[in-house]
Amino acid sequence: MRRLVSHSMCLFTVPLLTLLTASVVTAPISGQAQETATSNGGMVSSQQWIASEVGADVLAAGGNAVDAAIATGFALAVTHPTAGNIGGGGFMVIRFPNGQSTTIDFREKAPLAAHPEMWLDEDGEYSFEVHHRSHRAVGVPGTVAGFDKAHRLYGAAEWRELVDPSVDLAKDGFELSEALAGSIARFSSGRASRYEATVAAFTNDGAPYSAGDTWRQPDLGRTLERIRDDRSDGFYRGVTARLIAAEMRRGGGLITEEDLDRYEARERTPVKGTYRGYDVISMPPPSSGGVAIVTALNILEEYDLSAMGHNSAEYVHHLAEAMRRAFRDRATYLADADFADVPIHRLTSKEYAGWLRRDLDSERASISHPSDVEQPYESPETTHYSVVDGDGMAVSVTYTLESGYGSGIVVPGGGFLLNNEMGDFNAGPGLTNTSGLIGTEPNLARPQQRMLSSMSPSILAKDGDLIAVIGSPGGRTIINTTLQLILNMVDFDMDIQEAVDASRMHHQWLPDRIRLEAGAVTPDVVEALEELGHTVQMGGRQGSANAVGVNPRTGERMGAPDPRSADAGAVGVGAR
Ligand code: DON
Repeated sequence: MRRLVSHSMCLFTVPLLTLLTASVVTAPISGQAQETATSNGGMVSSQQWIASEVGADVLAAGGNAVDAAIATGFALAVTHPTAGNIGGGGFMVIRFPNGQSTTIDFREKAPLAAHPEMWLDEDGEYSFEVHHRSHRAVGVPGTVAGFDKAHRLYGAAEWRELVDPSVDLAKDGFELSEALAGSIARFSSGRASRYEATVAAFTNDGAPYSAGDTWRQPDLGRTLERIRDDRSDGFYRGVTARLIAAEMRRGGGLITEEDLDRYEARERTPVKGTYRGYDVISMPPPSSGGVAIVTALNILEEYDLSAMGHNSAEYVHHLAEAMRRAFRDRATYLADADFADVPIHRLTSKEYAGWLRRDLDSERASISHPSDVEQPYESPETTHYSVVDGDGMAVSVTYTLESGYGSGIVVPGGGFLLNNEMGDFNAGPGLTNTSGLIGTEPNLARPQQRMLSSMSPSILAKDGDLIAVIGSPGGRTIINTTLQLILNMVDFDMDIQEAVDASRMHHQWLPDRIRLEAGAVTPDVVEALEELGHTVQMGGRQGSANAVGVNPRTGERMGAPDPRSADAGAVGVGAR
């Protein structure tokens, strides 16, 4: 048995763990997007094809979907540095072959010295720079603890086999694609240039890398070796912890060795909903994603969306109105449920959706009242990947450094980027204003609290069968991208690749406008939406929803990389 990978994809080959049993072709489309992959066994779809290969190799060697997700996550930390990480955090949603499900919360936490006013100066002036771009913007990382926990609870392979491929990728290097070379050249000459260790990690002795160059990250390789040998102790204790704490002291950050030592990932009960007979399994707080998606689906269930037509004015209007309401509640209620009382059951109930629908006018846009609550800044960089194994175990992971390349701070001697996730906490008590600051209580920075997130790794099932593993990056648009993937499959009968490819829209309550991807609708649809009272903005791309779909009849897995991401790739393996 063999696995076929098109020649142009073979810029780098990771050592195979064992004899592969795959029969899948993956190939780039016009050097940009990657092709759909199909298989009757396992499948990995991520924003960076080398990382998908690493995950597929783990499946081929007999690992399960959790193993493959961990290996893919470590590989993304090497090959997709804008968002792949060990210095950030995220969420994992798992559905087992028997239909049960769980989640792992490895969101970053505020350090012990954090407090709600930590981004105000002595005169009480708020600083965006300190909140989002400084050592104080760094939360206690969660990724390594999350992967360790997921592996201890549900993994099957040897831990070291999940980390080793990434050690090799970091130490031996891999060939830079045009997209990645351009991205790190821009980063290293821009925001990163004030941090010596970042410039050292992201340049070739000060000179920018070019496409085709081999990029080696020896310090990162050594950190990954410590993680390989000592699991999360290799990150949260000993050398790595000391390096992080030293950099925090040097730069005025708050994270100490004690903060690192105390970090714990949490297993949490998924948020669940139903939509036209499908089961939706998603992430609970501290993500707002699962709750908001289920709220919006519950509102929309009452309408015949397929009769309206995909991306018709009527359809976009109803979506915008559902999104507006879900996002208003997100701003009002959502935060880390370990610290705030979040009424998850009420917000996700059908009855409550009926109440939200009562003032939804099919002929007229509602108005969002900025006096209620504003939305804080949120960046659009993160990454999502999806895994299904031969037994039908499904894993949906979204993790992030928050901004592209996070804080921009590489830990000297550690070789990895730190997040700037503290920016997802509200700015300060009472700081709500019309320029976008928010100061409401539940999501203020407090010691050990996790900041509110929009990341929405999700799984769709029907009648006990797995249907799809979905999610996306994109800040708040994550929620709406994931919502539309579900609508595309359920209401418009699209297969997973069509659902991923289809043009997307976004409304987040405030600012009160609909954003549509370039080319998503025709000018007459924009006109009709404006007549209904909407402000419409067109342009750009929304998300990178690297997904896997399963045909419940045949069991075939379809890996659907998002064509919006140049290096995305899906890789499958044959049945074991
Ligand atoms: O957790 C969150 O919701 C944000 N920090 C995620 C940032 C993000 O998605 C940027 N995405 N592409």
